[in-house]
Amino acid sequence: MSKQSFYLTTPIYYVNSVPHLGTAYTTVAADTLARYRRMRGDDVWFLTGLDEHGQKVEEAAAAADMTPQEWVDKLDVEFKDAWKMLTISNDQFIRTTDDEHMRGVQALVQKLYDQGDIYAGTYEGWYCVPDEAYWAESDLEPANEEGERICPDCNRPLKYVEEENYFFKLSKYEDALLEWYAADPDCIGPETRYNEVVSFVKSGLRDLSISRSNVKWGIPLPWDESHTIYVWFDALSNYITAIGYGDPARADQFAYRWPAQYHFVGKDIVRFHCVIWPAMLMAAGIEVPEHIYAHGFLLTKGEKMSKSKGNAQTPASLVERFSVDGFRYYFLRDVSFGNDGNISMESMVQRYNGDLANDWGNLCSRLFNMVDKYCDGEVPDPTVHEDEDEGARLKEIAATLPDCVEDRMSKLNYGAALDAIWELVKETNRYLEESAPWALANEEPTLPRMRAVLYNALEAVRIVALFTAPSMPNTSAEVFVRLSLGDIWKIDDLVEAAKWGQIPIGNAVIKGDPLFPRIVED
Ligand code: MSP
Repeated sequence: MSKQSFYLTTPIYYVNSVPHLGTAYTTVAADTLARYRRMRGDDVWFLTGLDEHGQKVEEAAAAADMTPQEWVDKLDVEFKDAWKMLTISNDQFIRTTDDEHMRGVQALVQKLYDQGDIYAGTYEGWYCVPDEAYWAESDLEPANEEGERICPDCNRPLKYVEEENYFFKLSKYEDALLEWYAADPDCIGPETRYNEVVSFVKSGLRDLSISRSNVKWGIPLPWDESHTIYVWFDALSNYITAIGYGDPARADQFAYRWPAQYHFVGKDIVRFHCVIWPAMLMAAGIEVPEHIYAHGFLLTKGEKMSKSKGNAQTPASLVERFSVDGFRYYFLRDVSFGNDGNISMESMVQRYNGDLANDWGNLCSRLFNMVDKYCDGEVPDPTVHEDEDEGARLKEIAATLPDCVEDRMSKLNYGAALDAIWELVKETNRYLEESAPWALANEEPTLPRMRAVLYNALEAVRIVALFTAPSMPNTSAEVFVRLSLGDIWKIDDLVEAAKWGQIPIGNAVIKGDPLFPRIVED
């Protein structure tokens, strides 16, 4: 069976600041889906990277007394280190300062210019530097007491811009966009975002300024080098330049990978991705992506978390406390993807101690210890005990997981997928409690049953490790090592691998340290 291409992207992050929980959240969610699809046999291409041009980055570099290039090179290292720390398995990391990307963007704008979709004009209006977004007078509230005009999206002061610019004929694509949304209601998720985009486009589109004459830090327009390309036009193009758009040597790869199956984005950048980006593609005669999915914001005490508000924890500080997998698990399990989610230290400790230390970690510890003690540290032979019902409930739950998890993952419902897996974790703990292998180990006649019980529990643990691997890659890899099962990342047929009864009898089982040591609250 030939593998199917599955191309998944995160936004490329601005390098005005270091990686934070918001960017880590998108990246972990994308990584989990990428790992899951690989285990289901897809040929995954997972792209992330950096949005390095534009006024915002230019200003951040100036504030640090560095050239933009020095600044972006420094931040590049920080982002790559952060993703390495979080075990992100991206197949590619694009930077918009990469030569190949810059050539691809220039090829794209040149094509649109040559065919008359880009024209010269004058821009007079407002610009939000933090969002790198244009606003018309009609979008704004009257000036505030300080005489400032405020960005309707991020509530920060706007700058007035009056420039000769080049414009993209966005308005020309209004009908084509509406037809696409109508024909494919799944193209944008969740539904609230879909509705928001449709009504925005129905209210009418204005042409978009796609060049800046006063911003030096950007890609020059090929036909007029006194302008740099608007940073969003540059950034959005990364999804196609990364896989070879505009590069004849990579035409086959581009044809194979595009269209993307998923663009993951935050809800604040939906319009760029669901209106401007598909219009750019339509203009260039390129297919639109299959799905654009917007997650919500992480909130602390009901407020958007951000560095400027001082309520942002760093990913590193949380990883230090909760481990990488504890960090990943919390955000996937506790924040419903697609909605805003409140996060707090208390709920993190609760989730970690309850689900990870008590349920999953403790199951492994007590089981591996019993196998060590009663079975010489080897997977026991269950076949002497002939009761067919032994462990029946575990086998039943395990058999439901492939379809159930697939259904929930295909809806990006990470929390519900983990819930389904947790049924097996909990049932295995209950099974051990009820069958009491420590008592069965005391007498000769009950030894065969004791071996069958431990075998069944080990098999359940192997299956849990398989299904939790996408969200908690380090722990699952470690469980596989402790069960002498080889490299979990070679698995590309999860359904087959999750069939009951495959753990080899006689495999060494290593006790090891607790997988999730309990956190004692200060
Ligand atoms: N550079 C643009 C994206 C270009 S994609 C072609 C950009 N970068 S960003 O670094 O500002 O933001 C990246 C992502 O982080 C966005 O999807 C945004 O929603 C997300 N988050 C930033 N703060 C967030 C929270 N507090 N919570 C969740 N995600 C949020 O936009």
